[in-house]
Amino acid sequence: SRLSFSLCLVLNLSVTAFSSLEFSRYDFPTDFIFGAGTSAYQVEGAAFQDGRTPSTWDTFAHAGHAHGATGDIACDEYHKYKEDVKLMVETGLDAYRFSISWSRLIPNGRGPVNPKGLEYYNNLINELIKHGIEPHVTLFHVDLPQVLEDEYEGWLSQRIVKDFTEFADVCFREFGDRVLYWSTINEGNIFALGGYDIGITPPQRCSAPFGNCPKGNSPSEPYIAGHHILLAHASVTQLYREKYQDIQQGFIGTNVFAFWFVPLTNKTEDIIATQRAHDFFLGWFVHVLVFGDYPDIVKKRAGTRIPSFSEEESKQVKGSFDFIGINHYTSLHIKNNPMKLNMDHRDFDADVAVDLIAIIDDTAPDEFPVLPWGLQQLLEYFKQVYGNPPIYIHENGQRTKRNTTLNDTEGNGSNAKGYFTWSFLDVLELLDGYGSSFGLYYVDLDDPDLKRYPKLSAHWYSGFLKGENVSS
Ligand code: NOJ
Repeated sequence: SRLSFSLCLVLNLSVTAFSSLEFSRYDFPTDFIFGAGTSAYQVEGAAFQDGRTPSTWDTFAHAGHAHGATGDIACDEYHKYKEDVKLMVETGLDAYRFSISWSRLIPNGRGPVNPKGLEYYNNLINELIKHGIEPHVTLFHVDLPQVLEDEYEGWLSQRIVKDFTEFADVCFREFGDRVLYWSTINEGNIFALGGYDIGITPPQRCSAPFGNCPKGNSPSEPYIAGHHILLAHASVTQLYREKYQDIQQGFIGTNVFAFWFVPLTNKTEDIIATQRAHDFFLGWFVHVLVFGDYPDIVKKRAGTRIPSFSEEESKQVKGSFDFIGINHYTSLHIKNNPMKLNMDHRDFDADVAVDLIAIIDDTAPDEFPVLPWGLQQLLEYFKQVYGNPPIYIHENGQRTKRNTTLNDTEGNGSNAKGYFTWSFLDVLELLDGYGSSFGLYYVDLDDPDLKRYPKLSAHWYSGFLKGENVSS
């Protein structure tokens, strides 16, 4: 399977050498962890229960943007967490990556904490720990409390920095005695693009007049949202380091969505365009985290549309991580687009000025094939360009169409200090609702009890996690 294929790469073997090679988890460093992930709105359900208020993701889903699917019930992990932890144990997971619903914990976005929200996350964390599963917690995964979006347009306002920091403070205070791995914001880069550039994800704003969005038409917005995401991340990291880290002995980082890009041809213009794509999609966030400022090319092409960091902010954001998480799904070919390069109307797309072209892989079941060599090259890029920071693969998985066969022979991938496959269960997908499937476990949505069934990938992963020799 692709999961086995990718895990082989972590052993640094060449593609041809390992195709029939057996390996096991004992070939990995002993402290290398393996997990699976989900996020709050995608699995919890209980959307209107026990004081939770709507998030921007509820609003988006209820407006019908995920083929009418919503997270009202989702996989009902809110009620079934014990059963799910049992499944994690049976699978052999070392760690579970999940996120905290801000509007469940602090229904007004700031101020009073909801005791029921506290109780739920305490229960989930305690259940995980009782069974030897390490919680890896994300503080923000798309679902901003709708009240904050309504009040000041959420991430477009600098006010978000204070509110997010206060929310994080509650999480560290209440859960930090048991949670040692914190990620601030999931995929800030793709969140800024999906939500503020092309408007296909919450809060659905477009940066261009031709966009089909209810709100927003400024090409600065993705850069402004991105800027506040970085500042909010840095502020939360500073808080953790100053107030909690010495006592709690945990680790904090963030994660980014990371394609791997390959020039379509060996023409110089495509090679330069590929570097530009790396700088815009990845460097836009990671360069800032590592070096304290945006890449030169980003500043040059975005001009006054991208805010700048003050000296103090730059210091705060530089090095604001103990690890960087990578959500990697696929690789793309890059072709220079000279027309966009010289366009008068400048937005993110014109700034980066490339065509993204799918890499065709006939063995893949989907237009986003997991290409294990792409993950390997991406990790090497982090090593060479960003000084080899500690990395967790936070997400990697093969999308298939939702189906009941459980025969998902096209699997996942891996590397670095830890690897989390996306996803533990078949969750609600942002755009596809319940039509897409990434999970190790199929969830029968027609069953009132939402029973979970292991797919082949769950069996493969479980065998691997329990130390069996496996092959690609
Ligand atoms: C990115 C997101 O973090 C997650 O919410 C989503 O389900 C997966 N990737 C798959 O699309």
